[in-house]
Amino acid sequence: MSRENRDTLKVFSETAEIFLKNVTVHNQIDPRRAARKRAKLHGDIREAFATLEPGSRILEIGSADGANAKFLESLGYDVTASDVVDGFINTIRARGLKTVKFNVLEDDLGQTFNGIFCWRVFVHFTREDVELALAKVYAMLEKGGRFMFNVINREVHDEDNEWKDLMGEYHLGAERYYSYFRESEIREMAAKVGFKVAHFENEKTTNNDWLVFVLEK
Ligand SMILES: C[S@@+](CC[C@H](N)C(=O)[O-])C[C@H]1O[C@@H](n2cnc3c(N)ncnc32)[C@H](O)[C@@H]1O
Repeated sequence: MSRENRDTLKVFSETAEIFLKNVTVHNQIDPRRAARKRAKLHGDIREAFATLEPGSRILEIGSADGANAKFLESLGYDVTASDVVDGFINTIRARGLKTVKFNVLEDDLGQTFNGIFCWRVFVHFTREDVELALAKVYAMLEKGGRFMFNVINREVHDEDNEWKDLMGEYHLGAERYYSYFRESEIREMAAKVGFKVAHFENEKTTNNDWLVFVLEK
């Protein structure tokens, strides 16, 4: 686990309350835009895991407020939500989700899953962290299992990584580590671990340029 990720987790621990308030603000500022974004993500999640039977075990890594884990649960999957930050763990648990404290770069759950979902988390990983996380996710998946995650596109950034705080509803008052990846880099790392790419999309939003991957073991 890199120093960059450890220090970023410290920031999230200290600002969890602000992060959770920001989620509410985000949904209120422009409710129609938020609903559109949510509908797009929900459609993509449905498709990514469409090969999995109802009741299949899905792990979410870095759940934060637990909204996406709740959606996965509504699809009939047996969902385990997780995070490292206590403020998030308490929130997820309070929503009635099966919850574990789990750092993908350090911990071992001793369990396997049919699907794993990890949204806006790899953005806080160094290249070495991504390599480690991909290997650990691969080991946790059953054969045929799917892994959906996203990274920010390096092509639209001037540097490989930076420490920054975001503005508006993403403002936490503290900088965290952001790293950017090229599609080819992620494809190479995923193939090295043994994954095949089931689906890929370059998703351009108002704030960012995302590379969305669905990998299959
Ligand atoms: C930007 S938030 C995204 C939260 C949520 N997935 C979403 O899309 O709203 C980043 C999340 O990644 C989690 N995270 C960062 N490093 C992690 C690690 N090494 N293992 C597990 N979760 C981590 C943080 O605690 C935080 O909840």
